[in-house]
Amino acid sequence: MNAQAPIKLIDGKAAAARVLAEVAEEVREMKAGGVAPALAVVLVGHDPASQVYVRNKVLRAEECGIRSLEHKLPASTAEADLLALIRGLNADSGVNGILVQLPLPAHIDETRVLQAIDPLKDVDGFHAENVGGLSQGREVLTPCTPAGCLRLLQDTCGDLSGQHAVVIGRSNIVGKPMAALLLKAHCSVTVVHSKSANLRELCRQADIVIAAVGRPRLVDADWLKPGAVVIDVGINRIEEDGRAKLVGDVDFDSALTRAAAITPVPGGVGPMTIAFLMKNTLAAARLQHPAPSTPAQFPEAPCPSIS
Ligand code: GUN
Repeated sequence: MNAQAPIKLIDGKAAAARVLAEVAEEVREMKAGGVAPALAVVLVGHDPASQVYVRNKVLRAEECGIRSLEHKLPASTAEADLLALIRGLNADSGVNGILVQLPLPAHIDETRVLQAIDPLKDVDGFHAENVGGLSQGREVLTPCTPAGCLRLLQDTCGDLSGQHAVVIGRSNIVGKPMAALLLKAHCSVTVVHSKSANLRELCRQADIVIAAVGRPRLVDADWLKPGAVVIDVGINRIEEDGRAKLVGDVDFDSALTRAAAITPVPGGVGPMTIAFLMKNTLAAARLQHPAPSTPAQFPEAPCPSIS
């Protein structure tokens, strides 16, 4: 796409609706075969943003026929009690996916909790077994936000081979798995972060920009090559003109003057994260209930002999 082409708004809501419709259809088929996928969602504490995310995850699960089991625990929950709950969910054959909403209260060791989840039920893809598998390019349960971003990019650009992608942010939830997925899709990948020198200059070389730093409107037109495709993962709550507002890591109005395509906030990446959580729950149920292998083909019946 060149700089004169009309800007394309990447509609994450519509893309997510397509993914959810596919999931709902596959859930129906799975139920007909006797397996009813179920997702356990664990929320510790009362962080308002986490409460909204968890509510949306539970609602979407129900919409596509996935049973959801909510575990809401007080902020004072001891780590040992949370680990005991996870062990119980691991052992429960009626639970296919386990999601522990992050962040956890400061007294709980996040790594210990994520490592306690059975990798086959790890619908967030945060267990070291799945993180390692992704970096080896294996088919594993993959973090939902970067998986959703990749789908938006492929829907927008088609084949990504040879594109230069700059990922801004190096978190375990988005930046690092995003880089691994883009490498798997044959992009050249640069990861930049708060300590990078020449952040803006590096970003200006990108065909694809993924902004995932949690800094409101950090990226503006000056950071973009004309015709770049921009995926904005940021969801920042700010106060402006006396009103609370949600904005991304990209200055949307400014970026519109340069980009070929861009995701809005809200309505871009957010809905895709939840849609891919449902896709992962289905994938986890399949991993736990693999289809019986195709029966061995009998050799052709011998031709009746003509005597
Ligand atoms: N908190 C913010 N994003 C995520 C996510 O993708 N998964 C979980 N479990 N917690 C989060």
